[in-house]
Amino acid sequence: MRMRVGLLLLFILTVIIAGCASSNGTPAPDNTTSETVTDTTEPSASTAEPSTGTGKDTGSHILVVYFSATGHTAPIAEYAADILGADLYEIKAKVPYTEADLAYYTDGRCDKEQADPSVRPEIDGKVENMEQYDVILIGHPIWHGQAPRIISTFLESYDFANKTLVTFCTSASSGLGSSASNLYGLVPSSAKWLESRRFAIGSSKEEVAEWLSEIGLEKTAEAEEMKIQITVGSRTMSATLTDNASAKAFYELLKKGPVTIEMHDYGNFEKVGPLGTDIIRSDESITTTPGDIILYQGNQVTVYYDVNTWDFTLLGHIDGATGENMREFLGDGDATVTISIK
Ligand SMILES: Cc1cc2nc3c(=O)[nH]c(=O)nc-3n(C[C@H](O)[C@H](O)[C@H](O)COP(=O)(O)O)c2cc1C
Repeated sequence: MRMRVGLLLLFILTVIIAGCASSNGTPAPDNTTSETVTDTTEPSASTAEPSTGTGKDTGSHILVVYFSATGHTAPIAEYAADILGADLYEIKAKVPYTEADLAYYTDGRCDKEQADPSVRPEIDGKVENMEQYDVILIGHPIWHGQAPRIISTFLESYDFANKTLVTFCTSASSGLGSSASNLYGLVPSSAKWLESRRFAIGSSKEEVAEWLSEIGLEKTAEAEEMKIQITVGSRTMSATLTDNASAKAFYELLKKGPVTIEMHDYGNFEKVGPLGTDIIRSDESITTTPGDIILYQGNQVTVYYDVNTWDFTLLGHIDGATGENMREFLGDGDATVTISIK
């Protein structure tokens, strides 16, 4: 009897496992060592899809950070991020500011914080990948003529040595005053400060664009298109990376030199091989098309010659790819694939 119950349980278990496997559609590539990698769905630094930078830099190097207690500074930050193709990060207080806190000249929380330059209100969360950025724009309201103390917390939370920094602010009527220059001493002296700007509440995107242009920050062609090339044997094809944090991280990696990946076939739809390092993942459910370049589990790169649906990260696409020319380009069996910046 006990034996029969055991067999029945085994049967039920087998049916459940088979059901799970088939409901997942096509399988992922095989070597599946899982690493915990920061997912860009975290709002650490990325909602306005980033890309490029200062006149000379690339967009993935620019971060627009802002603190906005009543929502006036936020749109200015969003305009700047959009114009520059930069990443966007909102500073949020660990203890949010209530309406009572924000009522000034009431000896409330804000009044007290602003009266004491040593106060450092705690920030909820952090920018995980600050080393990625060369240029950081920091937006804030003016509180009693100065930046809110939480901006001091932010500036003291990272190493800004050799980075380019610039603040912008909104206020009811006050000018910039000493609000920017009073922050300079909070970061290493090797940081380079650009000229700050105070915006009136409701300022337009054109005004923001004008200021960015004045201080030499603008989107470059490189930001718009990250072109790479892929070589297999004697043939090379060009590809365009997509606009997400992973593709930008991949592009940064390629800037250090070409990457060669030993790939093998998997599932009769892709070639896959180890990247040799982890890069940030932006996984989502994707149905591939031939020519897609995919980051799998943050540390493997696949090039598709057919269709597969799975949760992974699109890095880019080979220009002019078709199922036929991809199979021909990648060849049969194992392939040594070299990827470099075009
Ligand atoms: C505590 C506090 C102090 C403020 N002090 C000033 C000030 O000194 N000068 C000024 O023009 N506006 C002052 N304001 C108004 C804000 O600077 C203005 O509303 C700003 O646009 C708010 O930005 P935000 O909505 O992004 O937080 C103050 C607001 C608060 C809450």
